[in-house]
Amino acid sequence: MFSSLLALWLCSSSAFAQNSSVFDFPEYPPPGTPAPNATLASNVTTLPANEVSNPELAQVKIHVDTGRFGPPIELVHAYFNFWPTGVGVSSDGRIFTCFPRGNETFTLAEVNSSTTEAPFPNEEFNTPEAFINGTNPAFGIATSKLIFVQSVVVDGRDRVWALDTGRPRVNGTILFATVPGGPKLVGFDLSGDSFASITFPADVVFADSSLNDVRFDLRGGGFAYITDSSPQHPGIVVIDLATGTSWRHLDGHPAVSIDSTFVPSYNGVPFFLHPIPAPNAITHLNTFAADGIALSADGEFLYVSPITSRQLWRVPTSVIKVQPSSANPNAIILANQAVQNLGQKGGNSDGLETDSNGFIYLGAPEQNAISRFNPNTGLVEPFIRDPAIQWPDTLSVVSLRDGGNFLYFTSNQLWLGPDYQNGTDLRTKPYAMFRVAIEGGKANQMS
Ligand SMILES: *[C@@H]1O[C@H](CO)[C@@H](O)[C@H](O)[C@H]1NC(C)=O
Ligand SMILES: *[C@@H]1O[C@H](CO)[C@@H](O)[C@H](O)[C@H]1NC(C)=O
Ligand SMILES: *[C@@H]1O[C@H](CO)[C@@H](O)[C@H](O)[C@H]1NC(C)=O
Ligand SMILES: *[C@@H]1O[C@H](CO)[C@@H](O)[C@H](O)[C@H]1NC(C)=O
Ligand SMILES: *[C@@H]1O[C@H](CO)[C@@H](O)[C@H](O)[C@H]1NC(C)=O
Ligand SMILES: *[C@@H]1O[C@H](CO)[C@@H](O)[C@H](O)[C@H]1NC(C)=O
Ligand SMILES: *[C@@H]1O[C@H](CO)[C@@H](O)[C@H](O)[C@H]1NC(C)=O
Ligand SMILES: *[C@@H]1O[C@H](CO)[C@@H](O)[C@H](O)[C@H]1NC(C)=O
Repeated sequence: MFSSLLALWLCSSSAFAQNSSVFDFPEYPPPGTPAPNATLASNVTTLPANEVSNPELAQVKIHVDTGRFGPPIELVHAYFNFWPTGVGVSSDGRIFTCFPRGNETFTLAEVNSSTTEAPFPNEEFNTPEAFINGTNPAFGIATSKLIFVQSVVVDGRDRVWALDTGRPRVNGTILFATVPGGPKLVGFDLSGDSFASITFPADVVFADSSLNDVRFDLRGGGFAYITDSSPQHPGIVVIDLATGTSWRHLDGHPAVSIDSTFVPSYNGVPFFLHPIPAPNAITHLNTFAADGIALSADGEFLYVSPITSRQLWRVPTSVIKVQPSSANPNAIILANQAVQNLGQKGGNSDGLETDSNGFIYLGAPEQNAISRFNPNTGLVEPFIRDPAIQWPDTLSVVSLRDGGNFLYFTSNQLWLGPDYQNGTDLRTKPYAMFRVAIEGGKANQMS
């Protein structure tokens, strides 16, 4: 019975086999997919305990996980001073980085040797008049200076953009609320001259907003897309770069929100999120929502993933470029309806990044790895894995003028910090920046 049905199915399926979507599946595995043996982090070894406990088994070699696959990672910078998050690299190889501000003396920097960083563009720009609002304690201030740079991105025109959350953590304990004029997106040219400083109205970036990461769509007048990782106000902030006007989309959508059931595992240890006791935080870091974002190589999709979730999402940029207004009263609904759930990706991610081949690189701290989403197949592929990858925070692709395409990334041991370890700092200096060669180049989204 079964075999005759099978025969019938095989026979009838062959009639349309040529055009069935199943049989039309593109070349599989697709080009660029690592061979299965290349992503098997395997070796064999004997177990020392057996040498005494059981001589018969002492020489038996057991399959083990070496923790490594993919092209080798190269250490490009060691941070002995402040704790880093972002990295951006210009085409001439200059490396920009940033430090969430506790009592650090600067928050935006350029790497000036393998082991040191200098304030960028200078110390003065990194020194606000104050951190605490004199009339409004627990709030920050409005200032053109840099308060707390969470992300630094070099765009397709080699311009350096600093995303300032406006929320200092004074003396390492308090994440202050914002006042308008504190949070901002500041653009610098490579000589350090600031050509733009875009601030936000109070109904676009809220007092408890946490601007996290930014990507630039330089087609036409240009747009910037920013994640708001605040648990109270998860969403996407969009800026029209031609006018400086900004608006929000996807407020509270699952694509940008915390999965409260999420329990990741880092270096093999299950990790539970502890609430921080009052009164130390208005928003605590360990409940951050939408974090990494990436723009598809053609600029048509914005990929996003909450840091406390294993889900990957994307939304067409065409719908979020529409500013909600009386002229576009359904803009919010239409944007929410257009969100695509791309399913789980095998782990959570902090940073996301794109290359010109269309890959979306996904930090994979649970695996000490970086994976990549292949939009041609819908699959997440293994890319690199190494025990030295201790929380890949921010990812940044660069095509160097002197040759070479690289994915740079910071490795900052985030989950070992005191915020996440009940006040104890389990991190080990130096924090690291690595790079790995990639096939694709920088995706510039310029035309
Ligand atoms: C399959 O589709 C192609 C176009 O994609 C068409 O040329 C061909 O005739 C189709 N074959 C069948 C069996 O329908
Ligand atoms: C994987 O297998 C192929 C074919 O057997 C071989 O050429 C290649 O060297 C192997 N790669 C690794 C990393 O073992
Ligand atoms: C595999 O194990 C052998 C013996 O323990 C060791 O010499 C070799 O370096 C290991 N190879 C890898 C890729 O870890
Ligand atoms: C790097 O910058 C720091 C801070 O400005 C400075 O103290 C140090 O001398 C610089 N190092 C190099 C190698 O330029
Ligand atoms: C302090 O907060 C008040 C009220 O939000 C605001 O009006 C004022 O501009 C802030 N001060 C500074 C220096 O930004
Ligand atoms: C940080 O703490 C030190 C010592 O406890 C104190 O002197 C300083 O004023 C504090 N800084 C701010 C901005 O509150
Ligand atoms: C302040 O910064 C210094 C230097 O970065 C660091 O050694 C110290 O622990 C910090 N103190 C607090 C309270 O964050
Ligand atoms: C966290 O630390 C506090 C004291 O600082 C202690 O009372 C509490 O038991 C600790 N909690 C856990 C889960 O270790």
